[in-house]
Amino acid sequence: MEWNQEQDVLILAVESSCDETAAAVVKNGREVLSNVISSQIALHTQFGGVVPEIASRKHMEKINQVIAQALKDAGVSLEEITAIGVTYGPGLVGALLVGVAEAKALAWAAKKPLVGVHHIEGHVSANYIEHPDLEPPFVCLIVSGGHTHLVVVRDYGEFEIIGRTRDDAAGEAFDKVARAVGLGYPGGPKVDKTAKEGNPHAVEFPRAKVEGSPYDFSFSGLKSAVLNYINKARMTGQEICVPDLVASFQNAVVEALVSRAVLAAKEYGYDKLAIAGGVASNSALRAAMEEACAREGLKFYRPSPIYCTDNAAMIGAAAYYEYRKGVRHGWDLNAVPNLKLGER
Ligand code: KG4
Ligand code: ZN
Repeated sequence: MEWNQEQDVLILAVESSCDETAAAVVKNGREVLSNVISSQIALHTQFGGVVPEIASRKHMEKINQVIAQALKDAGVSLEEITAIGVTYGPGLVGALLVGVAEAKALAWAAKKPLVGVHHIEGHVSANYIEHPDLEPPFVCLIVSGGHTHLVVVRDYGEFEIIGRTRDDAAGEAFDKVARAVGLGYPGGPKVDKTAKEGNPHAVEFPRAKVEGSPYDFSFSGLKSAVLNYINKARMTGQEICVPDLVASFQNAVVEALVSRAVLAAKEYGYDKLAIAGGVASNSALRAAMEEACAREGLKFYRPSPIYCTDNAAMIGAAAYYEYRKGVRHGWDLNAVPNLKLGER
């Protein structure tokens, strides 16, 4: 990969907010020179979800080799890096701390600027990687394991939150339903795959609307409806068709997400609509968004699935724009588990 030390900004990015230990080298916020992800999924599967203590320990074990690999894959040395970007929130505190401590140590030793990044800003910025034409302003639907937000991206790193979930995040709903039907962890990808064999109209689940807040979401009612359906079937001895059930659940989630995202883009007068976060890798959501955007004359942006779920390339993209704005963090940078979007 070509780069020029005088002109190009090379960010070494580190991400450890949940269960992936990740590092990447990103050039000028858009070009990924390397993207290394060490997933802990297999380790947490036996417990049915992420065990925070295990996640932190595994991050500590892996982080040095993941960073070394990212530099090696990119063909650059630490000295050639312009700045170090790191996720400092939101996420699991013990997990975040590993990345933050590592990034601080590296930045201090190599005398490089340190740029702390909001994890969700990272997810949104994943869209810049493969879409060189995408620039703010645009509307973005952020759907991850912990967040469901509808935002106007006013500028790089500048967000106006116009809608949010009132209860469960979309990813959380996927994970809980997957567990209830015995698909296990991680739920989202398993529901996605199983739903392909099911009929999305087999069961008509309720579509919740939040009174007076057209851009807000609510998934707890839907989750309860799925659980009730399962309990009722078990009590009456009826067999459950899991593919039909999860396809119908997924369809209800997708409809809620797509309808609000498209409405927001139209009402706020933007012709660009992006999606971000782990759930943005869902094949039904991607297809439905594509179709709705084509119908409504909106330009649709989505990262490749590998940049939707947690990774460090997206953190490198976000860190670049923060760096360009002059954001620098000191050695007192700490993990902030409940960091709000737009806070620095
Ligand atoms: O963004 P992410 O990797 O981590 C967080 O920041 O939370 O999102 C993880 C969430 C999990 O709830 C997972 O089940 C969901 O994204 N997810 C999916 C798919 N892949 C991951 N949900 C639906 N369909 C998928 N294909
Ligand atoms: Zn995430």
